[in-house]
Amino acid sequence: MMREFEAKDGIMQIGGVSTVDIAEEFGTPVYVTDEQRLRENYRNIYGAFSRFMDTRIHYACKANTNLAILRVLEQEGSGIDAVSIGEVKTCLKAGFSPDRIMYTGVNVSDRELKEVTDLGVMVNLDSVCEMERLASIAPGVDVSFRITPGVGSGHSAKVTTGNKGAKFGIPLDQVISTYARAKDLGFNVKGIHAHIGSGGQVVEPFMDMMEVLIELVNEIKNLGIDLEFIDMGGGIGVPYRPQEEEMDVGELAMNLTDMIQEETDVKTIVLEPGRYIICDTTILLTRVNDVKDAGVKKYVGVDAGFNTLIRPAMYDSYHHVALANRFGKACTDKYDVVGPICESGDYIAHDRVLPDPQVGDLVAVYDAGAYGFSMASRYNSRPLCAEVMVCDGKADLIREAETVEEQWTRQVIPERLRL
Ligand code: LLP
Repeated sequence: MMREFEAKDGIMQIGGVSTVDIAEEFGTPVYVTDEQRLRENYRNIYGAFSRFMDTRIHYACKANTNLAILRVLEQEGSGIDAVSIGEVKTCLKAGFSPDRIMYTGVNVSDRELKEVTDLGVMVNLDSVCEMERLASIAPGVDVSFRITPGVGSGHSAKVTTGNKGAKFGIPLDQVISTYARAKDLGFNVKGIHAHIGSGGQVVEPFMDMMEVLIELVNEIKNLGIDLEFIDMGGGIGVPYRPQEEEMDVGELAMNLTDMIQEETDVKTIVLEPGRYIICDTTILLTRVNDVKDAGVKKYVGVDAGFNTLIRPAMYDSYHHVALANRFGKACTDKYDVVGPICESGDYIAHDRVLPDPQVGDLVAVYDAGAYGFSMASRYNSRPLCAEVMVCDGKADLIREAETVEEQWTRQVIPERLRL
């Protein structure tokens, strides 16, 4: 079920801190992350799999790359799934050693491949072409391959990745020849990887994908290559709605590890959860600036728009909302919660019952930790907002809000146009 929060004197609390105090101290909009919950989520997913076999969690940091958040996961013992040199460097900065990071790029340059391998980070190859390029850039390094399993799953077609014909991975009918070629090229081939998509809520597609991977592992063994790990990618969904069931990760772990242990000699399972680890650790606090009765609809105008949280606008994603300063009060009517961006597509939530929102109220947007800040933009010249971490009743700033002036610092006006 969706995470619930406590109230104290009618005010929503997170990590033992009042949301009203956080908004007052740090301003809005602001992302607020609960450190304890982050640790718990990591331990849950690691525990679910490591009960059965050797497990490595590679947190998919594309979901959230705040350095303080990365520090917590580094302390917990997590590894990293990185997709760009920027993510790799950010994770090194956060204290991850290169051997705990795996790089799974798609359509990346020779220059980036060189930088990544020079830093000692292992590459998970996405195409035959990329393999041939890497062979001349960093011969003999450790590699694995992302394959296209022909199984897709996800909360939206935009994030379903594993289906046949997808942009990602080695097409199934080329996998064996690719592993053979990698061996000939002198690579040290360590593993096999697939990712079916993001936000899937059922166990079956993961099992279907695992079947495909297992068959390949055994065919690859016939080439004289003993793989060390199977990487099942990420994609474990979380409940965004109040009564929504959550995926049973215990069952998922048992089924997948059973299959691997019964049918292969592979000793290690790797998984790359992003959303599962970070999503419900974080709320977005946003202030009501305006209320409007448009006849057919009532609007609550808040200071966070799709520049702050793009998921509703981009995927029609549902994020639960509540009035944080009158938490749990009886609801009066239905409202659309909308932002300050000058597009009709700018919304946070549609048709939600709320307790008569007023200017100055505080709206909490739930489950904003995954793909929230990391997808934020400066559209409409609105600066990126602040991030705060709460723990044991204390709130720390983990990212200052940007200023408008900072948006100009890299721009250059040619001499002839200067004031
Ligand atoms: N591994 C690979 C190779 C991936 O491409 C992804 C996500 C993950 C792991 C982590 O997936 P997760 O466990 O977080 O579902 N912006 C979208 C999600 C895009 C996911 C892209 N790849 C959203 O807001 O829903």
